[in-house]
Amino acid sequence: MKPVALASDHGGYSLKEAIKAALDKDGVPYKDYGTHSEESCDYPDFAAPAARAVSEGESERAILCCGSAAGMAIVANKFSGVRAVACHNEWTARMSREHNDANVLALGGRVVDAEEGKRLARLWLDTPFEGGRHSRRISKISEVEKSPESAL
Ligand code: RB5
Repeated sequence: MKPVALASDHGGYSLKEAIKAALDKDGVPYKDYGTHSEESCDYPDFAAPAARAVSEGESERAILCCGSAAGMAIVANKFSGVRAVACHNEWTARMSREHNDANVLALGGRVVDAEEGKRLARLWLDTPFEGGRHSRRISKISEVEKSPESAL
């Protein structure tokens, strides 16, 4: 199993650490791209290397934590092949996998507490893509990514 790429800024640092402890407990390998403290920092500095790992196939999945989840998702979605979704509850986490085949989960450390964040991470890692009609839609995302001005 390829390592799950993890990253956070200061706003998501404690949630990332909680998720790391849960992954350790479950024997899930991960690679931590930082940050490594609660000192204020800039979320793109940490989102970019973790999202690049997914884009380049070093990792199949990434879990990125900032305060709101928004910044991490915005940065990650700049990378080719990345489908990052900001999820705030079980339903959005499940849908992001079943319908969107999300390969990056963005969580908000100021939105969910550690227990909820760990639950969402586990659920997201365990939920398969449904395929079927959703595969056609994912292909259309790739078309848009390749040629945003002229696709569709
Ligand atoms: C940091 O204060 C905050 O802006 C960041 O964690 C995140 O919420 C950005 O989207």
